[in-house]
Amino acid sequence: MVRIECATVLVTGANRGIGKALVAEFLARGAKRVYAAARNPAAGQGEGRVVPLRVDLTEPGTIAAAARTATDVTLLVNNAGLLGVGHLLDMDLDDVERVMRTNYLGTLRMIRAFVPVLERNEGGAIVNVISVGAFGGTPSLGGYPPSKAALNSLTQAIRHDLAPRSITVHGVFPGPVGTDMFDKVTDYDPAFGEFPPATAGEVARATLDALASGDEDIFPDAFSLQLRAEWERDPRAAERMLHREA
Ligand SMILES: NC(=O)c1ccc[n+]([C@@H]2O[C@H](COP(=O)([O-])OP(=O)(O)OC[C@H]3O[C@@H](n4cnc5c(N)ncnc54)[C@H](OP(=O)(O)O)[C@@H]3O)[C@@H](O)[C@H]2O)c1
Repeated sequence: MVRIECATVLVTGANRGIGKALVAEFLARGAKRVYAAARNPAAGQGEGRVVPLRVDLTEPGTIAAAARTATDVTLLVNNAGLLGVGHLLDMDLDDVERVMRTNYLGTLRMIRAFVPVLERNEGGAIVNVISVGAFGGTPSLGGYPPSKAALNSLTQAIRHDLAPRSITVHGVFPGPVGTDMFDKVTDYDPAFGEFPPATAGEVARATLDALASGDEDIFPDAFSLQLRAEWERDPRAAERMLHREA
């Protein structure tokens, strides 16, 4: 169980989309302080309990500096991420690498920098915003599903390393969410009319509800709940569901 009202939170990618909604929801639920980490922190963002912080996941120096500044963090939310577009067999490999460096290696760097901070604060929690894409490859999303599968695997591995150190590790697996990122998915299958994209606010609220209940695997919307049910019934059915997405 994560006690949000006692937490000092750091959210990456906090300037828009799901990250921005998470910051608002943490504040609404009484978090002590929220570090809003972004590549370009907006002037005026640092009001009240919000502290702007510059973090670019592809610039290790910004991550190290953030860990030196935000020494009171007890809840690290790795939300920032980059979409891939293209087909793996013929797209530019630099794009595949960029997505992997951001979503996987960048998140790993954040975790490595902040585990000592969480330990000094006598434990806490790490929340990785992954994606249903971790459960199967969507052909037109390039290196994105592989980067999220790698992040899911990392999440599982460190959970066991960190449990004895009083740090819980949580994975969030949203389906389609109506943000700038989703706008770039141009071939969303209209057959998914029964699953209109969730809003960032809905995902943020469901994520914090689940954290407060102590859930480690968080499926915060109707699409992701259906995907999980398909996966438990037949992993191939889940794979087919993700193929239809693009
Ligand atoms: N939208 C969906 O359908 C969906 C579904 C499942 C999972 N997710 C995941 O949810 C998370 C948030 O996505 P979103 O939908 O809110 O997307 P978004 O609106 O595109 O926002 C992405 C955020 O990540 C930041 N970011 C990208 N590269 C970065 C880097 N190198 N260093 C630091 N920050 C970086 C962006 O910063 P800038 O403003 O500087 O670019 C932005 O704040 C991502 O991890 C995404 O994979 C999204």
